[in-house]
Parts: sequence; structure tokens; C-alpha cells
Amino acid sequence: MLRRVSTLLWLMLGCTAALAQLPWNAPDPQKSQALALKGDVISGEVAYVICQGCHRVGALGRTDGSYPRLAGQHSTVLIKQLVDVRTGRHSNPKMLPFADHQALSVQDIADIAAYLQQLPVPSDHGQGNGKDLILGQQLYERDCAACHAPNGMGNASRFFPRLSGQHYRYLVRESQMIRSGERRNANPEMNNAISHYSDEEIAAVADYLTRLPIGTR
Ligand code: HEC
Ligand code: HEC
Repeated sequence: MLRRVSTLLWLMLGCTAALAQLPWNAPDPQKSQALALKGDVISGEVAYVICQGCHRVGALGRTDGSYPRLAGQHSTVLIKQLVDVRTGRHSNPKMLPFADHQALSVQDIADIAAYLQQLPVPSDHGQGNGKDLILGQQLYERDCAACHAPNGMGNASRFFPRLSGQHYRYLVRESQMIRSGERRNANPEMNNAISHYSDEEIAAVADYLTRLPIGTR
């Protein structure tokens, strides 16, 4: 009996460890399918209606950062994040009912991603207080630009999100969740880069990001 209990404990430990070590961009059949499909912008606009209550018209999100901007994000990134939410790699309980298998087909995901990617990104996003922009620039160029690009446009083929034009408060919150490990699907190299940041440093980088020219793709 004791033996059985300890085997069970080991099994449970093993599963927890496996979950904690899920690679940030693990192969996934839904993800590869959605990436291979051709997204249709018009159908995507129709399917996006279920997202609009939170992410707003034009996918502009909210300046208070409660809902991120999705307009102008790379379709690859959008597909990865949506599949991560569906499969539980990225917890977002508020959004899950709108993104799960009943709500969206894999084709819907490809369509919505194609629609969102081509939307214009106006420059009325939330910004910080502008006090630490030089520090923000130094940190960004040292620790982040290699992946998110000097102009904050990210890298579509490597699934690195675009950060320019995003709301300040959302950038701060996500960076904090990356630092604490709460955002489980983040790239481990990024976790290392942010893990020693103070709140002030996170705020400085986020503010710097909101000052980058928005640029078109
Ligand atoms: C009930 C509100 C709600 C609805 C409806 C909703 N979302 Fe979200 N979504 C959120 C919130 C809140 C976040 C930010 C979560 C966080 O801060 O971690 C988010 C984040 C995201 C992200 C960013 C993930 C990341 O971390 O990069 C994507 C992509 C996204 N939503 C796509 C969609 C799409 C597409 C739909 C429609 C199919 C949708 N959402 C519907 C609330 C919602
Ligand atoms: C090794 C490459 C890499 C480095 C370095 C890196 N990131 Fe990231 N970043 C990523 C990837 C990949 C994601 C998407 C992770 C995921 O799938 O959830 C991401 C996501 C983010 C997000 C969330 C975006 C969103 O739309 O939800 C923020 C904010 C962010 N990074 C900020 C930073 C900051 C600030 C730095 C520097 C201190 C940094 N990153 C360094 C690769 C990197």
C-alpha cells in the first residue's frame, strides 16, 4: 500500500515537472494546421465579432491595459497565443469560453489572425509618465531588442510579438507576469532577461516601448 502511494506521488511529481517544463513553442497539431491555412480577412472580420466586446472595435483594446491591442499583431503570434489559451498553456480564464473549440474552429483562428494583422494601428495607445525613457531605451536595447527588434516590431516567423503601439499598462502587467513565471508559455531566455528587473525598470522599458514610432508592416 505504502509503495503504491509513493509510486502515485512520484507520478504526480513527474507530471507537474513535465507541465512546468513545457517548451514555450511546443509543436501542436492545431497550431500547425492554423498556420498552414490561408486566413480570409472578410470571414475573419465576421468571426472577430465575438472578441469585440472585450478587445473593442478595430481591436484597439483599452488604454487602461485591461484588454490588449490586437490590431497589427503578427498573425503567427495571434495563432500561437490563441492555441496556447485553448490548450491551457497560457491561462486566460476570462477569454477561454470565447476561444475554445465550441466557439472557434481552426479555420476561424486563421481568419481572425489574418483580419487582425492587417488592421491599422493608431497612435492613441496608453503611455507611461515619460520620466525614465533613457533608462528604458538602454535596457530595451540591451535585453529585448534582439528578439522584439529595435523598432518593437517583433519577428513574425519566430513568433516574437510586436510590442510597439501596445498599451503601457498591458506591457507592464505582462512583463510582471513574465518575471513571476505566471505567464508560463514565455520564452525562457526572456524570463532570464526580465527576472532581475525592478518594478521601476519594467515601467521604464514599457514606457520606452510606447514611444516607438508605430510604423507600418
Ligand atoms: C471576455 C473578454 C475577452 C474576450 C471575449 C476575448 N478576449 Fe482576448 N484577452 C482578454 C484579456 C483580459 C486578455 C489579456 C490577458 C492577460 O493580461 O494576460 C486577452 C488577451 C488576448 C490575446 C493576447 C495574448 C497574449 O498574451 O499575447 C490575444 C491574441 C487575444 N486575447 C485574442 C482574442 C480573440 C481572437 C478573441 C475572440 C475569438 C478574444 N481574444 C476574445 C479578454 C478577452
Ligand atoms: C529570446 C527572445 C526574447 C527576449 C530577449 C525578450 N522577449 Fe519578450 N517575448 C518573446 C516571446 C517569444 C514572446 C511571446 C511569448 C509567448 O508565447 O507567450 C514574448 C512576449 C513578450 C511580451 C508580451 C506581449 C503580448 O502581446 O502579450 C512582453 C510585454 C515582452 N515580451 C516584453 C519583453 C521585454 C521588456 C524584454 C526585455 C527585458 C523581452 N520581452 C525580451 C521573446 C523575447
